[in-house]
Amino acid sequence: MYQVNPQEKDKTLANELLTAETKKHIDGWLKKYPIDQRRSAIIGALHAAQEQNEGWLSKDIMTAVAQYLEIPPIWAYEAASFYSMFHTQSCGKHKVSICTNISCMLNGADKVVAAAEKNLGIKLGETTKDGKIMLVKEEECVAACVGAPVMLVDGHYHEKLSEDEVNRLLNELQEKD
Ligand code: FES
Repeated sequence: MYQVNPQEKDKTLANELLTAETKKHIDGWLKKYPIDQRRSAIIGALHAAQEQNEGWLSKDIMTAVAQYLEIPPIWAYEAASFYSMFHTQSCGKHKVSICTNISCMLNGADKVVAAAEKNLGIKLGETTKDGKIMLVKEEECVAACVGAPVMLVDGHYHEKLSEDEVNRLLNELQEKD
């Protein structure tokens, strides 16, 4: 069981940086776990904070999440740097990830990548000039091999993609805020 240290009672950054909506979202995750297992809410909490912060996690906002959860900030930094769905540097608000692992590769992931790069005018790992869309550099198997080739748009799965479908999805995304 984790005992909260007195310095983890400091909520300065949490109060300053987290919106009421983000806190409400985190509270929803906290309710799912026992009071002494607050660390378990870290993934959901970081997702909420990332969404609030234009799609990425600054050091301060990760610290704010840790303060809100009353856990050491290093636990938030560790989770954010370990999982590929978190971004610790400024990047596009919307994330497009194309799986290039074996099943997707055998089913035309290279054509999906080429269509996406052409449509957006950027390469994998880059963000459009308006800061709106990032093509995530590398995505491992996203556990949807039966639908290969697969592309995720802001975490939503799109499967058995043709180049036309990639263009349709990306054109739609460019119309969004
Ligand atoms: S290899 Fe692409 S989803 Fe598994």
